[in-house]
Amino acid sequence: MPLQPTKHIWHNGKLIPWDQAQIHVMSHVIHYGSSVFEGIRCYKTEKGAAIFRLQDHMQRMLDSAKIYRMDLSYTLDQMNDAVVETVESNGVAPCYIRPIAFRGYGELGVNPLKNPIEVYIGNFAWGKYVSGDRSADICISSWNRMAPNTLPALAKAGANYMNSQLIHMEAKMNGYDEGVGLDVNGLVSEGSGENLFLVHKGQLLTSYLGSSVLAGITRASILTLARDMGIPVVEQPIPRELLYIADEVFFTGTAAEVTPIRSIDRITIKDGLAGPVTKQLAAEYFGIATGKRPDRFNWLTPVKVTVNEPVSA
Ligand SMILES: Cc1ncc(COP(=O)(O)O)c(C=O)c1O
Repeated sequence: MPLQPTKHIWHNGKLIPWDQAQIHVMSHVIHYGSSVFEGIRCYKTEKGAAIFRLQDHMQRMLDSAKIYRMDLSYTLDQMNDAVVETVESNGVAPCYIRPIAFRGYGELGVNPLKNPIEVYIGNFAWGKYVSGDRSADICISSWNRMAPNTLPALAKAGANYMNSQLIHMEAKMNGYDEGVGLDVNGLVSEGSGENLFLVHKGQLLTSYLGSSVLAGITRASILTLARDMGIPVVEQPIPRELLYIADEVFFTGTAAEVTPIRSIDRITIKDGLAGPVTKQLAAEYFGIATGKRPDRFNWLTPVKVTVNEPVSA
């Protein structure tokens, strides 16, 4: 969906007009991918607009920055407040929020340390389908995820998404909705922009953090909900073939929410329909995000914005 401009972008503590949020082509980030960022949703709820797990997303952004020795100069509370300020000033909900920090203009070279750190926050209208509405046909990619001591997967860094683009483009060109990368040992890692779960013999399994996965906020939410519902949960190394024989497989992510997977490498998962565990978790996740079920884990940050009907992505 094309970007829909809003009024303001937050830059280093101030709101500036959308059109003025520009950088020089010689900025470090353009050449070396030196950025860390977040992707967050603000939902339409029964009681108005609310941002989903804002604190956790902004803590992950600070963690990503720490891994890359980037000092953002803002505390977690300041970053959270800046997101709320941006969303409220733009008055657009439901929306997608994109905070980003990068190394800016100063010196061009592999040593990044003398370049200024620029922090921006933008948001734009974004709704989508209801979780569980759509099933995906996916493939295992010929591209692996990065090995652990190459690019750190726990950092949500711009550079990692060159790998995601290879995985996603290959999948699309071969007629699939999405691709899954294996880790350096040939074990299941994750989708180009989603974590992966499977149900096998009554247990809910997902790849452990050692398999080059992003520690997804939705992944964490699903793990919390499953444990709360008494579903046995295991984070472990997952062999590729376990996906083919699983009872249920689904993606999780801020964009994907909970998306059931119908087939992998043209092998149908069970009967090809969303399974009961997927449906139960999707209903609970979406119920909390949209305020239809109690926010019992304190995941929602209300914002003062008049909500419009969801737009389709
Ligand atoms: C590579 C990758 N894995 C997993 C996810 C899911 O993470 P989250 O649930 O925090 O959106 C994302 C989302 O951006 C991603 O880019």
